[in-house]
Amino acid sequence: MSHSSPDLSPCVTTIVGTGSYVPEKVLSNADLAKIVDTTDEWIVSRTGIRERRIAAAGETTSDMCTHAARRAMENASVTAAEIDLIIVGTVTPDSLFPSTACYVQQNLGASQAVAFDVSAACAGFLFAMQIARHFINGGNRSTALIIGADKLSALIDWTDRNTCVLFGDGAGAAILRRRRDGDPPSSGLLSSVLASDGTLSGILHAPGIGSAQTTPPHRAVIPEPIIHMMGKEVFKAAVKNTCEACETAIARAGLTAADIDLIIPHQANVRIVDAIRERLGLPPEKAFLNLQQYGNTSGAAIAIALDEAARSGVLKRGDNVLLVAFGAGFAWAASVIRW
Ligand code: UT7
Repeated sequence: MSHSSPDLSPCVTTIVGTGSYVPEKVLSNADLAKIVDTTDEWIVSRTGIRERRIAAAGETTSDMCTHAARRAMENASVTAAEIDLIIVGTVTPDSLFPSTACYVQQNLGASQAVAFDVSAACAGFLFAMQIARHFINGGNRSTALIIGADKLSALIDWTDRNTCVLFGDGAGAAILRRRRDGDPPSSGLLSSVLASDGTLSGILHAPGIGSAQTTPPHRAVIPEPIIHMMGKEVFKAAVKNTCEACETAIARAGLTAADIDLIIPHQANVRIVDAIRERLGLPPEKAFLNLQQYGNTSGAAIAIALDEAARSGVLKRGDNVLLVAFGAGFAWAASVIRW
């Protein structure tokens, strides 16, 4: 029961800047071994993760978004007044309402923007990217700030070794703009596949806040929202579904896997990345990984990796880049961009 969006629109939307932010506090595998029954060896061998960042007390998702957004705006030489669309992909909003995007709009003073959130968990940044692309391609908006951000530390059961070792906090942003004269001729968003399968909602979810729990007179017993995950099922669903989405996104871009210069995957588990990469026939050096340092930052993961790949020079002008993400929903996405 998956629904992929057909998307053959021309390449008129391009990425003109990126930015990212991770909190200062580092939580290492050794730190975690002091609070749950785990080891650095188990975490590294099963996931590739060595450490992750944890937001400071009082530091919100919108705070992290705002830092990442300012860096992306600076990188793109775009002012707040030019931004006419803000989309935040997050499942850890500051509050149930208003949207985190509206808090970001306020922080930036981006008064011309329409601002809203999209809930697609770890695929949130790619969902935001595709929605913004439709707005821009359709001529409705010209300059979008898209952000992937999550503070999953707020939803972690710190006594559950199955989940607490996996996640971290952070935010990543990009500025998307309608192509202008002078932009690199072939750069832009080439193709995209978005998909979801609600029958798999039970394999990764965080009950606790929402209409299922907050109907009076039960308010007083609302449980703390925490992540519940069936790890092996998520692993299998991720590999199966994202491989197909990657193949479709590559074909829609008019390319073959051999044309892909870099894959920037969701940073959940190096074994999942290897499985996707091998199925596509791409060598290890073509995968950009930073999960060793940050763990799985959910909606932020691809956005942070894209920014780091761009700033470090790994990403080169003209490169064909495959972005691929999966997460709760089950929701997944793949996009091909030309840098
Ligand atoms: O963005 C999407 C978010 N989620 C994911 O991407 C998760 C996808 N799934 C995975 O990455 C993997 O399934 C995990 C890393 C979560 C788990 O790896 P696994 O190879 O599937 O291990 P497992 O769940 O089969 O557990 C193997 C053993 C179990 O012990 P027993 O039952 O064999 O005695 C677990 O209790 O490892 C145990 N275990 C741990 N041991 C030490 C589970 N977590 C830990 C831990 N430290 N942190």
